[in-house]
Amino acid sequence: MFYDTESNAHGMAHDPFKAIVAPRPIGWIGSKGRDGSRNLSPYSFFNAVGDRPKMVMFSSSGRKDSLRNVEETGVFTASFVSRSLLDQMSASSAAVPYGEDEFALAGLTAAQGRLVDAPYVGEAVAALECRVTKVLTLPDMEGDETDSHAVFGQVVGIHIADAMIRDGRFDLAFAEPIMRLGYMDYAGMGPVFELRRPSQRT
Ligand SMILES: Cc1cc2nc3c(=O)[nH]c(=O)nc-3n(C[C@H](O)[C@H](O)[C@H](O)COP(=O)(O)O)c2cc1C
Repeated sequence: MFYDTESNAHGMAHDPFKAIVAPRPIGWIGSKGRDGSRNLSPYSFFNAVGDRPKMVMFSSSGRKDSLRNVEETGVFTASFVSRSLLDQMSASSAAVPYGEDEFALAGLTAAQGRLVDAPYVGEAVAALECRVTKVLTLPDMEGDETDSHAVFGQVVGIHIADAMIRDGRFDLAFAEPIMRLGYMDYAGMGPVFELRRPSQRT
């Protein structure tokens, strides 16, 4: 089948787009308002987008509290979502009034960033501390503004739980990331395998 996205006539009960661009990592975005209030929410429009320097991005569909906070303070954190924190991650996505602390709501520890004044999930096995480099309201193909707002951040500090470092690597199989698929679906990680690039073969 084929459908154009203007008509969006896919004929299915739910739009398959997000199930095709999947799995996506979940950035658990921690931030603070100018008023000092804490915020925590999951974003699966999230990824690493550069490594020299290290850059991540999350995108807000509409103007949400995390976006407001990062515009106010210029910093955020992105915590790693392990399977053991699935329920807390889900609880933190609740639509609550601005200023309500989702760390408290989800029963999580708000750990204070070392290099940025933003909280991260103390129970997470890894977390990134980030400084905002750009907030980009995404233009569509006509150049008109959409209601998607991409926040780019430079990673200035990285927390890793010591227990997750095995043989000198961040052990993903042990960290058990949860990934977002389409619909109401999530996935854990399958077996890890190694593949060398042509230039790396001996
Ligand atoms: C796994 C997961 C991924 C999500 N990804 C996004 C996303 O990429 N962009 C977005 O705008 N909302 C996303 N949401 C919804 C937000 O988490 C939700 O709207 C939340 O209330 C926003 O919080 P805030 O207003 O405190 O920033 C996601 C929710 C879940 C559970």
